[in-house]
Amino acid sequence: MTILSPTSTAVLYLVAAICFILALKGLSSPKTARRGNLIGAAGALIGVVTVFLSMKLDNIPWILAAIAVGSAIAAPVARRVQMTQMPQLVALFNGVGGGAAALVALLELSHTDDPWVRLAVVFTLLVGAISFSGSLVTFAKLQELMTTRPIVFPGLPVIMAAALLAAVGASVAVIMTGNGWLAVLLLVFGLLTGVLLVLPVGGADVPIVISLLNAFTGLAVAASGLVLGNVLLVVAGTLVGASGTILTRAMASAMGRSVTGILFGAFKGGSTAGSTVASDRPVRSSSAEDVAVLLGYAQKVVIVPGYGLAVAQGQHTIAELQSELESRGIQVVFAIHPVAGRMPGHMNVLLAEANVPYESLKEMSEVNPEFKTADVALVVGANDVVNPAAKTSPGSPIYGMPILEVEQAPQVVFLKRSMRPGFAGIENELLFEPQTTLLFGDAKESLGKVLAAVKAL
Ligand code: TAP
Repeated sequence: MTILSPTSTAVLYLVAAICFILALKGLSSPKTARRGNLIGAAGALIGVVTVFLSMKLDNIPWILAAIAVGSAIAAPVARRVQMTQMPQLVALFNGVGGGAAALVALLELSHTDDPWVRLAVVFTLLVGAISFSGSLVTFAKLQELMTTRPIVFPGLPVIMAAALLAAVGASVAVIMTGNGWLAVLLLVFGLLTGVLLVLPVGGADVPIVISLLNAFTGLAVAASGLVLGNVLLVVAGTLVGASGTILTRAMASAMGRSVTGILFGAFKGGSTAGSTVASDRPVRSSSAEDVAVLLGYAQKVVIVPGYGLAVAQGQHTIAELQSELESRGIQVVFAIHPVAGRMPGHMNVLLAEANVPYESLKEMSEVNPEFKTADVALVVGANDVVNPAAKTSPGSPIYGMPILEVEQAPQVVFLKRSMRPGFAGIENELLFEPQTTLLFGDAKESLGKVLAAVKAL
């Protein structure tokens, strides 16, 4: 005896699916992202509760215990994680999702003779396993538990092709026989393929692969919905698969790279991970007071925030500096590069935290013509996203990436701690140009000093 009728179950699944769609819509803008997140969580809650009330479930205590253990681990981790560590957290959660889908498929294999269901089982097993092991490797790379550089060794393409072929062979065998041990073998080949697929990816490409594996998990979950005959899983998985694919393509094109180049570029020596060695070439550096004079007597200032602002947690100080400059009649805009920071929308989220008005934030195409007309470009903890090498140096790892055209501004001020390069590990010629000056130090401290000096003008 179940509490919900099939009709009410279908209606509740529809409500949950609508919540997921509204959640995606909400997440497409910083203004509505928080609400979108809550709507998505509400949809997931409705989905889970509906399952409990519409089915005769065995082992309810075990299921509740698993939910309790998962929540007890995930909730504190999600609360405590630093914003800059968000990509690896997403990788971990995503990998676990793919792994769970694979396990569900493995267990369901013994309950079916239908070759079409077995097809869905092998798809879920293979793609879920690839997503699980691949995501764990990306987590280890971003958490620096292993090198972030691409790992390539002789014979890797051959081993990768062999693992894939073996996986396809095992898939056919499982569909034909339904044999559980062959399915376990398929799982092992899937895990191996996931590791081999991600090892050659390094540096700035890792978060893009996380997004790709996220799409894989979505597809695995959708297929597990076919295995279980659960429409909501099919809808939710498809939405994750589609949005993950769109995000992957958007991130890749914002970095001027192709998805195949990201996955297999290292075989041709096209890694994006460069050096972390600081340059010893001479540069022009100045004091906070000098920077304050530049800013305080300008008419228009374009601020370019980057990863370093997030590391320094300088968002509140930068918001104060904006208010102070605006109170002096100076026009201030923020130039937002789509891949500034370490995750999509990183700068938007960071500045929203400090209540910087959305109207002050301008996207790359909109703001680029404005550098010419600005008096000062203030680059705070950004490097790769303003590096002209992206336009001028074929062969550079960031060549082809659209950049913020800071070099067009008559005065450029960089706030950074040292002469170390950014994520891509390459020198930025703009640091050595005559119109550029550097204020060395932690971004939050430097901003605080500049703010005090502007106030004292
Ligand atoms: P980066 O090029 O990584 O440069 C960050 C700069 O911040 C460095 O110059 C660093 O120099 C400085 N910095 C670090 N900590 C600081 C602190 N506490 N105070 C002051 N400065 C600090 O950052 P970006 O320009 O934002 O570019 C993002 C990079 O990440 C791109 O290469 C992009 O492709 C990659 N990426 C982005 C994403 C997404 S989706 N956003 C995903 C993957 C990869 P010092 O060490 O000298 O201070």
